[in-house]
Amino acid sequence: MKKKLPGKSGIILKADWEIDILRKANSIVAKVLQMLKGQLSEGITTYELDKLAENEIKKCGGSPAFKGYKGYPASLCISINEEVVHGIPKKDKVLKSGDLVSMDIGVVYDGYVGDAALSATVGAPSKEAADLIAVTEGALIKGITQARPKNRLGDISHAIQRHVENAGYSVVKQFVGHGIGKSLHEPPEIPNFGRKGRGPVLKPGMVLAIEPMVNIGSGDVKILDDGWTAVTADGSLSAHFEHSVAITKKGPVILSVPD
Ligand code: MF3
Ligand code: CO
Repeated sequence: MKKKLPGKSGIILKADWEIDILRKANSIVAKVLQMLKGQLSEGITTYELDKLAENEIKKCGGSPAFKGYKGYPASLCISINEEVVHGIPKKDKVLKSGDLVSMDIGVVYDGYVGDAALSATVGAPSKEAADLIAVTEGALIKGITQARPKNRLGDISHAIQRHVENAGYSVVKQFVGHGIGKSLHEPPEIPNFGRKGRGPVLKPGMVLAIEPMVNIGSGDVKILDDGWTAVTADGSLSAHFEHSVAITKKGPVILSVPD
């Protein structure tokens, strides 16, 4: 029988000075996301938004974390309507009024990575989109609230899943959140579903990118032929929110906010 050893989660704890750098990297992410949100309008292309993002990242002293990551070709992931995550910016992808747009940005600053995402609509949202966006952001907040010392990773996952399923929606199980630091993806994987009281014990110094992806219909997704874009299997709308969060002895601190 395989015995599960304690303390083998592989989660890298960060010192306070490292969390300060992660805060700076993430503040650039947050600033760029807010700028992009303000640029959402009918007629703009996702390619133009990617260029705006890349320029702003560089102006802030960072570099894009996604570009070149496993061959990803852009600075921004931008996923429209039934697209879940990892949509690639394109010159011929023109936004139209009412589109639900999920934008995900990664920034490297001084050797550390920031990562966050949000969903918003072009112009006024339909009730369907507004409700989905509110529940997905709410699920992220519920998850973050559990990110405190002595809780376990499963407490985060469970809080997200419960919030989403209580609203009648589905979490996407094929993609997960992650630890973050010098690398974009560090242990642990953070599923958006799970059981309370399970998984590694959370400790001060852990930094987690928590990122619920929520579909109105089934949680199943498929990947398009471009090898990146994940779409809902049933064509239903999807939303995505992500924050990078430091666990401190006082509780969770959201790093991906503008400074
Ligand atoms: N926030 C996403 C993630 O953590 C975005 C990664 S896109 C990639 O996986 F291009 F870098 F893969
Ligand atoms: Co992420």
